[in-house]
Amino acid sequence: MILRDMTEGDIDSVLSIEQKVHSHPWTRGNFNDSLTSGYVCKVAEMEEQIMGYAILMQGVDDAELLDIAIAAPYQRRGLGRVLLKAMLMRARELGKKRVVLEVRKSSVAAVALYQAVQFDEMGVRRDYYPAKNGREDAILMEWKC
Ligand SMILES: CC(C)(COP(=O)(O)OP(=O)(O)OC[C@H]1O[C@@H](n2cnc3c(N)ncnc32)[C@H](O)[C@@H]1OP(=O)(O)O)[C@@H](O)C(=O)NCCC(=O)NCCS
Repeated sequence: MILRDMTEGDIDSVLSIEQKVHSHPWTRGNFNDSLTSGYVCKVAEMEEQIMGYAILMQGVDDAELLDIAIAAPYQRRGLGRVLLKAMLMRARELGKKRVVLEVRKSSVAAVALYQAVQFDEMGVRRDYYPAKNGREDAILMEWKC
């Protein structure tokens, strides 16, 4: 598997994964904006097939992980951990003090992944996300660079 910068030409493949793994997926516009805004946008690829991707927005002192996903058939093989660690190392190289994120409380796999790489929970935003039956809490997490 290689990790490389995402390009506009990757967005169809990325969207196809995004729409399968998220209940409220990002749009093409969200990915385009991430590329044009200069966020750190990486894809994980094997034999020219995109298996996952991650987006990191840079602030002054902090970076925020906006999205990370691995295509369903390739989950639970360690790829998410490799991709996430690469994004954390990039934030460190960029001189950021911490990486923050918000995650749906129901995203059990994502919360477990973040805990596995030593993210700490900072708090909860009540009813932050739209959900199938109303609203859902966001868990706020940080990783110190
Ligand atoms: C979250 C996600 C990226 C994890 O990717 P992955 O490649 O399956 O994760 P890994 O195989 O690298 O797992 C690393 C660790 O995370 C935890 N983990 C991952 N998936 C898990 C699951 N389904 N249940 C419990 N723990 C899980 C485990 O601690 C795992 O280590 P282990 O396999 O040694 O037990 C993937 O499940 C995904 O794309 N989910 C949908 C999108 C999403 O929710 N994104 C995050 C919010 S933006």
